[in-house]
Amino acid sequence: MANLPSGCRIIDFSTRGDERGSLVALEGGAEVPFDIRRVYTIFGTREGVARGFHAHHALNQLAVAVAGSCDVILDDGQRRERVRLERPDQGLTLPPMIWHEMENFSPDCVLMVLAEDVYDEADYIRSYDDFLRLAEEAQA
Ligand code: TYD
Repeated sequence: MANLPSGCRIIDFSTRGDERGSLVALEGGAEVPFDIRRVYTIFGTREGVARGFHAHHALNQLAVAVAGSCDVILDDGQRRERVRLERPDQGLTLPPMIWHEMENFSPDCVLMVLAEDVYDEADYIRSYDDFLRLAEEAQA
């Protein structure tokens, strides 16, 4: 696995498997390193589409490809790394101040995102230039 930008990590979830199949349980404060206030899913993404293109001021999130696969590009203002999500038993943390883009969605991809807070447009940084400026200020 690539050396991820600061604060980003892959979390391996334990799978409870038996003769019936598999089950992954995610609890806030346990497998998920924050309390969960919102869940959203991205699915039916059309071929060639890229999404995201933002960072958050304060929000913590965790992304899981519960079906299919996609790539997440992570950028902390210094470095960019690409991570492939393709397992329902693996999550990628998306901490605050990480610019992220998602692309290469398989047609069957269901990307589930667990979020620490409700939707708040004011928490979004949607301009890459603003993001770079804020990231630089935070380093100083
Ligand atoms: P958008 O931020 O464009 O998605 P992405 O980051 O994947 O490119 O969100 C698409 C629309 O959905 C936009 O109108 C905002 C809305 N939305 C909500 O209402 N609640 C949510 O939790 C999220 C993530 C988006």
